[in-house]
Amino acid sequence: MTESEVYAAVGGEGFTRLVAAFYRQVPGDPILHPLYPADDLEGAEQRLRDFLIYRFGGPETYIEQRGHPRLRMRHIPFAIGQAARDR
Ligand code: HEM
Repeated sequence: MTESEVYAAVGGEGFTRLVAAFYRQVPGDPILHPLYPADDLEGAEQRLRDFLIYRFGGPETYIEQRGHPRLRMRHIPFAIGQAARDR
């Protein structure tokens, strides 16, 4: 399976469940929680979900709303150390 075929197999519902399962754990996580925007966790969840859907061959909602991902630039404001990377 190529990267662009993943969406057809997993579907929007699958990506939604995957990303929701991650974000459900963020509020209770002492390493990750402080990194994320406390007042916009829902928005963060939506941005990651839409990015993954676009990246794996689904609708380009992320690109329409956010433009080019520029993920390196968008992560620069956050101090992501080894522990956060591993978590
Ligand atoms: C392969 C690795 C990663 C990918 C693909 C990824 C993907 C993304 C995406 C798509 C966004 C939203 C960008 C936007 O504003 O449009 C984002 C934001 C963010 N990421 Fe990552 N990320 C990765 C690794 C990490 C790691 C290791 C951490 C910290 C442990 C992290 C923390 C954050 C935070 C705090 C935000 C801001 C939340 C928001 O408001 O959107 N990311 N990431």
